[in-house]
Amino acid sequence: MTFQTKMLDCSAESIESAARLIKSGEIVGMPTETVYGLAADAFNEAAVEKIFKAKGRPADNPLIVHISDIAMISEAASEIPALALKCAKEFWPGPLTMVLPKNPDIPSVTSGGLDTVGIRMPSHPATKALIEASGTPLAAPSANISGSPSPTCAEHVLNDLNGKIPAVIDGGVCDAGIESTVICFEQNAIKILRPGKITAQMLAQITPDVRLDKGVLHPFDSDKPVASPGMKYKHYSPKAEVIVIDSDADEFFYYVSKQDKSGALCLIFGDENLDGFNLPYISVGATDVQQAHNLFDALRQADERGAKTIYARCPKLDGMGMAVYNRLLRAAAFRVVKL
Ligand code: TXA
Ligand code: MG
Repeated sequence: MTFQTKMLDCSAESIESAARLIKSGEIVGMPTETVYGLAADAFNEAAVEKIFKAKGRPADNPLIVHISDIAMISEAASEIPALALKCAKEFWPGPLTMVLPKNPDIPSVTSGGLDTVGIRMPSHPATKALIEASGTPLAAPSANISGSPSPTCAEHVLNDLNGKIPAVIDGGVCDAGIESTVICFEQNAIKILRPGKITAQMLAQITPDVRLDKGVLHPFDSDKPVASPGMKYKHYSPKAEVIVIDSDADEFFYYVSKQDKSGALCLIFGDENLDGFNLPYISVGATDVQQAHNLFDALRQADERGAKTIYARCPKLDGMGMAVYNRLLRAAAFRVVKL
């Protein structure tokens, strides 16, 4: 008989049983307000190694350490710059990960061999409850097979990891739908390594000097050191080939109508009039918030519908649009057609 992953609810009893798994060195799928994570005790090397194995994740791609209380930050970081403390007070609990110098107690396997560590305090009540019941910070990447779109509901986790992990806690559909904003600090500046729900405009309340790392919108340059190892790898990719079209709506429809239609599917970002449009499509949403919420599910649906090529018109870049575009670019391996 094949081994099945157990689906747990968010009751106190279920959280306790998930925490027992964590304490015994196991890995558990957990909901957060961004995407589902695959959690282990951040200090337990053997448990963290199970995460890398289950996901097929490259060993040099560090995990985010999740805490339930600001005071726990010193268990993971050796130094907390004043700017980081300001960010934590303003945006935690929430979808912000800060890269800080690592506490030597955090094993190298967790930090992908780096001397820094990404730390985040999630706001989802089930995540907070699981960290508290486990009594340790939890290392957790997104709970997908490495390279595929991040999971935004428990079913997505099962689709990727059923039989590979003992349990997943079902906390419903994730609110944000896109992973946390990842930042690091450079003197008095904040540098965004991965855009998310906490936008550059929001971070500018903390310091006026907010920079976007080049890797957010450009392919990784193998001659230069990478600011965040995740930038090196293929990401968020459905099985279908994704092509981003940078154009207005009319040009987009005209361009797509000239392409090979077998297996083509369009992702629509906006409120385009689709009357008379004779290709299958998925509406991702009209606003940046809806687009972020729905993007990964839309990429997974496109695969379920057997799409071979996904044409996506470039979304607007304001608000969470920057994060949506960043994920889309990576799903497309930076294939952009500019009309
Ligand atoms: O919202 C999220 O951040 C979700 C939930 C589960 O918390 N987690 C998540 O983890 O998206 P993951 O592993 O899929 O993405 C973490 C990203 C990777 O691109 C990784 O390279 C980067 O953060 N990262 C982690 N630690 C880092 C560090 N010390 N320095 C630079 N980048 C780091
Ligand atoms: Mg991930």
